[in-house]
Amino acid sequence: MQNLFKSLVIEENPDGSFSSSIKKKSISDLPVGELLIKVSYSSLNYKDALSVSGVKGVTKSYPHTPGIDAVGIVEHSETEKFKIGDEVIVSGYDLGMNTSGGFGQYIRVPNKWACHLPNGLSALDSMVIGTAGLTAGLSAYELEKLNGIEDRKAVVTGATGGVGTFAIKILSILGAKITAITSKKDCKGFLKSLGADKIILRDDFLNSVRKPMNKGTWEIAIDAVGGDILSGLIPSMKYGGTIACCGNVAGPNFEASVYPYILRANRLIGIDSAESPIDKKKKIWNLFGKEWKMNDLQKLFKSVSINEIMPEINKTLSGNQIGRVVLNHKQ
Ligand SMILES: NC(=O)c1ccc[n+]([C@@H]2O[C@H](COP(=O)([O-])OP(=O)(O)OC[C@H]3O[C@@H](n4cnc5c(N)ncnc54)[C@H](OP(=O)(O)O)[C@@H]3O)[C@@H](O)[C@H]2O)c1
Repeated sequence: MQNLFKSLVIEENPDGSFSSSIKKKSISDLPVGELLIKVSYSSLNYKDALSVSGVKGVTKSYPHTPGIDAVGIVEHSETEKFKIGDEVIVSGYDLGMNTSGGFGQYIRVPNKWACHLPNGLSALDSMVIGTAGLTAGLSAYELEKLNGIEDRKAVVTGATGGVGTFAIKILSILGAKITAITSKKDCKGFLKSLGADKIILRDDFLNSVRKPMNKGTWEIAIDAVGGDILSGLIPSMKYGGTIACCGNVAGPNFEASVYPYILRANRLIGIDSAESPIDKKKKIWNLFGKEWKMNDLQKLFKSVSINEIMPEINKTLSGNQIGRVVLNHKQ
């Protein structure tokens, strides 16, 4: 075990701004926990970008190392559930929020946050999927129970982002007919290659919506955007349709009337991956290793070193990220 390790550290400056640097931290700087894990890969999620920006709803105190996802090898364990050398995934709970996260080469966490890397999934693939994929997976899991997915007319928003990309991939594997809503004119080919049948540009969608009731077009929706896009989706669902609401890149507030609920029996359900019970997370990770196995993940991500992560974080904050970014600690 090496005592000093590299970490991205975010600090709050006296003028209230935030700055980032790569620092050497010591294992003794890490919080208490039963598992010490040498992180091989982490991934970049929108929440990490908020933590880097000093959003106190995500991270209350600084200096801090973000990274809500990590996969790695157990180097010290105080529980029989995990042995030294086990390969484990940790995602969500408090990791990277107020607990030093995967943008450092080591994490120490409670054992109840970890699960074994499932058969059929490599460490790298698990971080290509990461929290974004897990969230898309949880959304699809709930929609399958409520409406079914095969042959359903589905819509995915924020389509080129992390959640959107995996939402399209999973819904496509499960046989839905998918419309992708995106702001990026030049990404139609990418979205088709994921499995989207139809692509609508964000502004065209927003201009087409009539409120309080629009033409009922979709049976299921995965919405990672919120704001005015969600306000437009709510009146656009078919009778009995369900929207899985999982993100807020366009803002936390939306407009709605009761009509879609009382005239079309629509449902708006909330999805949270961070505090999801670990057994449910395991179920979704296992699906990614078997029924949802994807053999083309290499086209969905770019791999960066810790020295290259800041420009990617800025791209995420400006809404210009496409697919997923994996932080490779061996790079
Ligand atoms: N509920 C949960 O447990 C959970 C877990 C993970 C993430 N999330 C949330 O899900 C959202 C997406 O996360 P992500 O990791 O997929 O982020 P991401 O990779 O940055 O993707 C977000 C995508 O949303 C679209 N977008 C960005 N800014 C927008 C704006 N102002 N208005 C409309 N669309 C915009 C863009 O796609 P297009 O250009 O293709 O439209 C962008 O690529 C975030 O709000 C995140 O906090 C929630």
